[in-house]
Amino acid sequence: MTGGSLPTAGPQAVRLQKVLAQSGVASRRKCETLMAAGRVEVDGAVVTQLGSRVDPETAVIRVDGKRLPVAQRHVYLVANKPRGMVSTMADEAGRPDLRELLGDRPERLFHVGRLDTDTDGLVVLTNDGEFAHRLAHPSYELQKTYVAQVAGVVKPRVRRSLLEGVVLEDGPVGVDAFRVVGSHGGRSMVELVIHEGRNHIVRRLLAEVGHPVLRLSRTAIGPIGLGHLASGSVRDLTADELGTLLDAVGL
Ligand code: URA
Repeated sequence: MTGGSLPTAGPQAVRLQKVLAQSGVASRRKCETLMAAGRVEVDGAVVTQLGSRVDPETAVIRVDGKRLPVAQRHVYLVANKPRGMVSTMADEAGRPDLRELLGDRPERLFHVGRLDTDTDGLVVLTNDGEFAHRLAHPSYELQKTYVAQVAGVVKPRVRRSLLEGVVLEDGPVGVDAFRVVGSHGGRSMVELVIHEGRNHIVRRLLAEVGHPVLRLSRTAIGPIGLGHLASGSVRDLTADELGTLLDAVGL
């Protein structure tokens, strides 16, 4: 059989694109594209039909000829990335990267979104491709909380401008919440909540309103907070956190 659907759909059967996404191949949408392009094979036959179901525990699935291991349990972690560490799993230039936080964990994990190398704080790591894709996608508008040390004493009108929205070179951006935590020696500590993921968005936004960022930390994504997680440490998401996030991204 080539280029078609699968003949069987037993009680264990799961849609092929879901199995692919859950195995960390890519987002479900991208997996559908891979299937449509004839790059996915099940038990030796190319499967292009998007509704096709397979038993994830027994099917021999290949993408571009490469065998996909049997679906494993998903892992959902939160890390406290130190400042100076790049937000990649394997930095080609040999700088400290997220892999270093994971010891010898066997899973192929990837990070959800990026923090600047100079930013510390919360990063989610997972091997659930669809979850990662949705969590990073702006359409789900997950709120992220940042604490920044900025230059200058922040006046009340700055808060008003940020809440109303500011226009940057790549379009408007606003914050969902903003407060000044304190000021000392010509610097201020501020906390803001934003549901944007554009590059350097917090640094650009605060510079635009006259308060360049001196230090930046991400302290929460949606319901997940850093709490007392030490810099450089990793923990599992709690069942409550994961449940809330799965609901938030419609999974
Ligand atoms: N905004 C930034 O400017 N930097 C980050 O690392 C995250 C958000």
